Amino acid sequence: MYKKNNIILLLLLTMFIGCSDEKPVIIADFDSDIEAIISKLTLEEKVGQTCQITLDALYFRDDDNQVIEPGKIDPDKLEEAIVTYRIGSILNVGWHTYDRVIWTQILKEVNAPFNNGVTGVPIIYGIDAIHGVNYTQGGTLFPQEIGLAATWNPGIAEKFGTITAYETRATGIHWNFSPVLDLGRQPLWSRHFETLGEDPFLAATMGGAIISGYQGDNGIDSEHVVACMKHFVGYSNPQSGRDRTPAWIPEKYMKELYFPSFKEAVNKGALTVMINSGDVNGVPGHTNYNLITKTLKGDWGFQGFAVSDWEDYIMLNSIHRTAEDIEQAIISAFNAGVDMSMVPYSPQYKEYCQLMIKAVKEGKITQERLDDAVRRILRVKIKAGLYKDAMNQLNEYPDFGSEKFKATGLEAALESITLLKNNNHTLPLSMDKKVLVSGPTSNNLIYLNGAWTHTWQGADTAYNTVGCKTVFEAFKEKIGPENCLFSQGAELYLENGFEATRLIASDDFKTKAAQSDIIVLCLGEYPSTEKPGDIRSLNLDEEQLALAEMAYATNKPVILLMIEGRPRIIRTIVDSAAAIVQAYLPGDYGADALVKLMFGEENFSGRLPYTYPKYDGVIEFYDHPRSVDRSKSNDFKAYDPQWNFGYGLNYSSLVYSNLRLDSKEMRSKDSIKIEVDITNSGLIDVKEVVQLYVSDKFATIVPNGKSLKGFNKRLIKAGETETVCFYLKIADLEFVDVSGRWNSEPGAFDITIGNLITTFNLKI
Ligand code: BGC
Repeated sequence: MYKKNNIILLLLLTMFIGCSDEKPVIIADFDSDIEAIISKLTLEEKVGQTCQITLDALYFRDDDNQVIEPGKIDPDKLEEAIVTYRIGSILNVGWHTYDRVIWTQILKEVNAPFNNGVTGVPIIYGIDAIHGVNYTQGGTLFPQEIGLAATWNPGIAEKFGTITAYETRATGIHWNFSPVLDLGRQPLWSRHFETLGEDPFLAATMGGAIISGYQGDNGIDSEHVVACMKHFVGYSNPQSGRDRTPAWIPEKYMKELYFPSFKEAVNKGALTVMINSGDVNGVPGHTNYNLITKTLKGDWGFQGFAVSDWEDYIMLNSIHRTAEDIEQAIISAFNAGVDMSMVPYSPQYKEYCQLMIKAVKEGKITQERLDDAVRRILRVKIKAGLYKDAMNQLNEYPDFGSEKFKATGLEAALESITLLKNNNHTLPLSMDKKVLVSGPTSNNLIYLNGAWTHTWQGADTAYNTVGCKTVFEAFKEKIGPENCLFSQGAELYLENGFEATRLIASDDFKTKAAQSDIIVLCLGEYPSTEKPGDIRSLNLDEEQLALAEMAYATNKPVILLMIEGRPRIIRTIVDSAAAIVQAYLPGDYGADALVKLMFGEENFSGRLPYTYPKYDGVIEFYDHPRSVDRSKSNDFKAYDPQWNFGYGLNYSSLVYSNLRLDSKEMRSKDSIKIEVDITNSGLIDVKEVVQLYVSDKFATIVPNGKSLKGFNKRLIKAGETETVCFYLKIADLEFVDVSGRWNSEPGAFDITIGNLITTFNLKI
């Protein structure tokens, strides 16, 4: 084996020295190989490896510097970037969705210098395939992450990861900027829908499953991709709610809330990380040595590389003002531990490379630190299989966009959509009723998919997947055009960059409502993310509330269908609704799923992955400290959300019983076995999300009211009883104490599952 490696090494060295015409050799994943490559790289080549540019930087441009459409790679620009500057990575394509033939051509062109032996290190191409291959035509689009979290089914999350990885490789790309592991603790934030919800345990479990799906269990073969955990760390909690604005996160909450999903991802072997564009406690993510180098790479042993977010070293100078000039900005980010910078345009990338070279020559960046970054990047490139397989062949991926993949997209939507209210069995609907489908989100796929769909903001309808249905189309197909009326009632648009709603054709709405038995009213949000997705209030627009009131005034039963990335405040229209369904952003098969669920072909099993707020000014979380509720008599009930975290109804009737522990005492090294019986006394099978919460009764730091420590989604057939079992370890009882360390304290703990509570004692 050792000998074989030496031969491989020799071949490799020949390639670097001679830049021969031979095809690149397959190299093994050994540190000696990496060191051999590094020892042959020039300073310029090493610096190039740390630089990432966007595809747009390579395209032909007109006299006004606009990309000439359809985008085509300018060979001179390509040569300059890849051969002269030795750029190591390319990303994205913000304004297009290409088919696989075009993608393959692009990948072929950018990899040609390596494949022809002109350069010695392959390009790693990265893309945001965040809810399926959203930049490749014909791929499978899943619910956005918030919907995946609402499935509470790690198996679905893993399948999503597996299919997305396969289809990303079918596109020729090896690196996915996903999953978002930021905790959804600020519902105003435009990227709330990209998170896995508010709970660290749920986010860590689901995020870990997505990473297993992306990277596979046996290394990255031709059907898997390199995952990117993002955005390390604290990005999701901007104080103002606006994207990339300051967050304040005390050490305790950083450790208890924001770290666990990233730590679990590192344990699962995630190979890359993207850094938080904002600042936490006054320190920009990109200069945070303590977080990137000490914690992530040091304490957690992360071996992969850290990529910056979009232009973020430039932001250190222009926005954060922690660097007086670009040179200082580059140095501060690199020395904090950022290994690769998403520069991403020209001529900025040339300036980046020149300033990096200067900084190394002047000793402001050590050779050792540069080598460390390059070593990390090469390690990932080797693990990604790029040396042996810079290109994939189209015909190797027969399952791309296949019916079986679409069925999984539908399954994910079915398990995510959450029933929040169902008065008098309004749902399931019967086939003999006349339905009026209405509302601003009722008749366009862009509302079901949200941002990062075909384009960055996802609002361009030009690429909508042919054959996928809107809510109106799916209802019409189900009950026939004669039974399905349509009146949009209101439309969403952008006004000075902010989403707004305008009411339209109220007479049409009233006439058709009068002809109908029931109204399905689709409310929600305009697709958006990042800065363009900033909003000023969590309240649903007045016009949408007015449309709901107009619907109630008809005295027909009204089902509210919330198609939204954030939980918008709907308090004033909840009571009059006959039923309320939370769809999140369910993807291309969302409407099919909604119809199956609403007509009772399938049972609901989604559960809220966040606490649905009731008031704009009172944002609270289910695991709030016990001190939130000040009054013993409950007359000052501070915690009063619209719906609780973990909430969701279904068509079955479940009875929890017989909650039992194998011991009423836990000692340091024990674990406790917890069992509960759940009986489905209804007539319909259900997948029940069994949730286990632990409450520390007293602690030296105000304990949480309760914390999720286990869940299990289990099929319970009608009339049957299932026993669900959990194990609780001492680590599950720990919290971060005043000294900043994880600790557990003896005493009594409650365990809650469903409506049952029992208690045990921890003895240390
Ligand atoms: C976003 C990242 C994304 C990157 C590349 C940034 O603006 O914050 O999440 O991966 O762009 O598209």
